[in-house]
Amino acid sequence: MRRGRHLDCRSRLRSRSAVTASSGRDESAGRVGEGAAGQTDSLRDFLAAVDLFLATAPEAVAGVTDLAGLEQARIEFLGARSGQLKSIQKLLSGLVAADRAAAGRQFNEAKTEVTSLFAAAQERLAGGNDAISRPAADAIDVTVPGDPVLLGHIHPITQTIRQVQEIMARLGFESVDGPEVEDQWHNFEALAIPTAHPARDPLDNFYLAVARGADPLLLRSQTSTVQIRVMENRRPPLRIVSLGRVYRPDTADATHYPMFHQVEGLLIEHGTTMAHLKSVLRQLASSFLGGDVRVRFRPSFFPFTEPSVEFDMEWGGRWIEMGGAGMVDPAVLAAVGYDPDEVSGFAFGLGVERIAARRYGVADIRDFYRNDVRFLRQF
Ligand code: FA5
Repeated sequence: MRRGRHLDCRSRLRSRSAVTASSGRDESAGRVGEGAAGQTDSLRDFLAAVDLFLATAPEAVAGVTDLAGLEQARIEFLGARSGQLKSIQKLLSGLVAADRAAAGRQFNEAKTEVTSLFAAAQERLAGGNDAISRPAADAIDVTVPGDPVLLGHIHPITQTIRQVQEIMARLGFESVDGPEVEDQWHNFEALAIPTAHPARDPLDNFYLAVARGADPLLLRSQTSTVQIRVMENRRPPLRIVSLGRVYRPDTADATHYPMFHQVEGLLIEHGTTMAHLKSVLRQLASSFLGGDVRVRFRPSFFPFTEPSVEFDMEWGGRWIEMGGAGMVDPAVLAAVGYDPDEVSGFAFGLGVERIAARRYGVADIRDFYRNDVRFLRQF
């Protein structure tokens, strides 16, 4: 089709040129002699060049498979400095004036035709909808799903801490914090743990090298320290809960770790009894673990509670100790300036890793700290 139109064009030019050429020959017989033959040759060269240009461009464009190849072909055909079109333009300017108008039109038609061939190919290759494969460097397939962004999430122990805080808040317990580096008074003495007590043994605690004379500092071994700090600074009634890290040189095993977390609860109000303590712990256990969790209280001893109990939960047919609890010893109330005849209270301290393990079915609390993302990703 294109080729046919091109030939028509050429023949139109030929016929007009033939007239001009023949009249030139006729008219020039006595004036320019061989000049007319030269003009005919120039025209023939021009027409042949246009013909070749139009014939070879579509093949060249069809043969390219990428944008770089297309650009190379474009320079060869349409390049402003030395492309084929530029050569044809030079031939055009060598034509006699009488041929130049028609030849110019044909030149422009050829230029338009080939330019749009290249434009169409450019669109096809850049659009990526073509089956032609392009080098990987050029290939951007916007339909390929992107790499998912890996989102981190909150550590299961922190999740547990927040959930316990939320449950206790519903029971009216305010969350408070205390320091992890403690003195002898708050970690032991105010809790009625005397100097000779085995719980103060250097082998059972992380004492700090920056000792303060006779009152060495240590990494707190229990969150019961926060009970004392709060009672020293506030008056009853009190309902506080404190969750944080504690440290003991225990050998790591499935239920022990040298750094672990405790949840400490303290309630001081007029008329508090052991029944309140048991209700709050049952409520905490069933809210966190579900209504079917079985708990039990065993008689025990802590220097700062009287009576004292251990609080256990059933797991897989076994009873696991979750923490200690009891009624705050009147001696402790007196030590912080409260009147034991006016107020009474209870306190408890549970191991956060153990209740988290019970909830998530983790058999070994060391897994919480191995930093294995395959494990942590599950929570
Ligand atoms: C105490 O620490 C008392 N302060 C608890 C308390 C508070 C009693 C208030 C009375 C009133 P105990 O040493 O038993 O208690 O520790 C409490 C819980 O912490 C344990 O039952 C256990 O769940 C957890 N725990 C203790 N040692 C470790 C450890 N090395 N790794 C993980 N959890 C531990």
